[in-house]
Amino acid sequence: MHDTTPQTAAGKVLWHFSMSLDGFVAGPGHSMDWMPDATNRAGLIEEYTSTTGAILGGRAGWDAFPDPNAVYGGAWSGPIFVLTHHPEDAEPAEGVTFLDCDVAEALEAAQRAAGGKNVEVLSPTVGRQLLERGLIDEIDLHILPVLLGDGIRLYDNPGGSPVPLRLINGEPMAEVNFRYHPVRDLG
Ligand SMILES: NC(=O)c1ccc[n+]([C@@H]2O[C@H](COP(=O)([O-])OP(=O)(O)OC[C@H]3O[C@@H](n4cnc5c(N)ncnc54)[C@H](OP(=O)(O)O)[C@@H]3O)[C@@H](O)[C@H]2O)c1
Repeated sequence: MHDTTPQTAAGKVLWHFSMSLDGFVAGPGHSMDWMPDATNRAGLIEEYTSTTGAILGGRAGWDAFPDPNAVYGGAWSGPIFVLTHHPEDAEPAEGVTFLDCDVAEALEAAQRAAGGKNVEVLSPTVGRQLLERGLIDEIDLHILPVLLGDGIRLYDNPGGSPVPLRLINGEPMAEVNFRYHPVRDLG
């Protein structure tokens, strides 16, 4: 199934990730080298770079890739907010604000800076906290054709309750059927 519905800018809070089929957004040690060369629909990068006004993330993701010019492969630039309990030891970077505050306050700062465009939450831990507060508008995922088995999950909440969801780009309560072949020839 291909989502052909373009993302729009409407001041939304998007929890946006590329994710392995088994639910990981990064490999062990924050590795990102597992991403296959998947085919995007035409115009996908432009769609997100033009609708994103600000980014909100966490310190682990920032420390793993501390480059404000690397977002969307350098195709996006704008205000980035990074939550951390110790902003004082963060290396300053242009356009990046390190915040130690309530997660809802951090989101408000990002929304003000986004100027009516969307805020992308690029952190599993920050996204989970915002979800608990009812502050996520969309969970926007690009499922990549790979199984990881280890790493950082989109949603880790041991002991938590199931979170019911509704599909936006399809029949709201539809299950989605993905069918894959394991790649046998890895040489
Ligand atoms: N697949 C994709 O599309 C994609 C896109 C972007 C990023 N990623 C990956 O996502 C991963 C993100 O890693 P992660 O989820 O482990 O960590 P993270 O959310 O980036 O960082 C966790 C850290 O954020 C800080 N933090 C979180 N909530 C806070 C709060 N309420 N107040 C103050 N500080 C707070 C804390 O930092 P302190 O310890 O400093 O206090 C915490 O240890 C990275 O590996 C990144 O590469 C994947």
